[in-house]
Amino acid sequence: MKIRTAVFPVAGFGTRMLPATKAIPKEMITLVDKPLIQYAVEEAIDSGIEQIVFVTGRTKRSLEDHFDNNIELNKILWDSGRTKLYEDMKRISEMVDVIYVRQKEQLGLGHAILCAKEIIKNEPFAVILPDDIILAKEPVTAQLIRQYERTGGNVISLMKVEECYAYKYGIVQVESRLDDKLFKLSDMVEKPKDTPPSELAIIGRYILMPEVLEVLKTIKPERLGEIQLTDAIRSEAKRGNVYGFEFTGKRFDCGDKTGLLEATINIAASSSELSGELKRIISALKL
Ligand code: G1P
Repeated sequence: MKIRTAVFPVAGFGTRMLPATKAIPKEMITLVDKPLIQYAVEEAIDSGIEQIVFVTGRTKRSLEDHFDNNIELNKILWDSGRTKLYEDMKRISEMVDVIYVRQKEQLGLGHAILCAKEIIKNEPFAVILPDDIILAKEPVTAQLIRQYERTGGNVISLMKVEECYAYKYGIVQVESRLDDKLFKLSDMVEKPKDTPPSELAIIGRYILMPEVLEVLKTIKPERLGEIQLTDAIRSEAKRGNVYGFEFTGKRFDCGDKTGLLEATINIAASSSELSGELKRIISALKL
């Protein structure tokens, strides 16, 4: 079955990025000239996604405005002859159908996905965590969809991390290696405290079967009162239906200052308009 829907959990407070996120959602933080959320939405569209579900919370109005039609702005741009900008603004609002669902309480990633259940219905779907910006020739969601078409099961994106960073991620346990980049998974642990089961961390791109939603309904909140998505996928892994794919691309954790800075520099470095200027700015710094 085709993957038509992508769920974007965007209800989090973004406390790691305060004060920037005091009055604006963290997904609206800018990387060069676009908010984080637009990179993630463009990735979904370039991967063939037709419907996007934003699981939002309070203070997320600007996300809705960003993907809406701003008639007054369009008129000003058109009347003043700035047709390129006019086209760009129209394109953003015409990109894709977005459906908004409220997550009324911050009960974790698993709970956020469950909020989209009525819209996802009984189909496999994608999950995109927009904090994880991934620069790749082939969008990572498209890479995962190809693996889903091959395996017919849940597919999650993986990246090698050093053991000292394992505590930040879900870490998987591999049952077998199916090829260079594709693994069958037997278990996983969210943010391990002890020795992690492997060096492969879960990154914020998933293709999930509707069964995961049924399992999510039964997952009990962990210590901090959060319902973890990893716990639901874990239970499917024990039934032998979860694969992990080590994607090709460069990933940045944009929920964090360093990641945001690194992503900004990388995007500027790969832009024909900005790379020369970036070189000049950096060499003038004499670091
Ligand atoms: C979430 C997931 C975690 C994953 C991470 C990737 O954690 O729960 O398994 O490794 O995203 O960014 P969060 O960063 O939201 O705490």
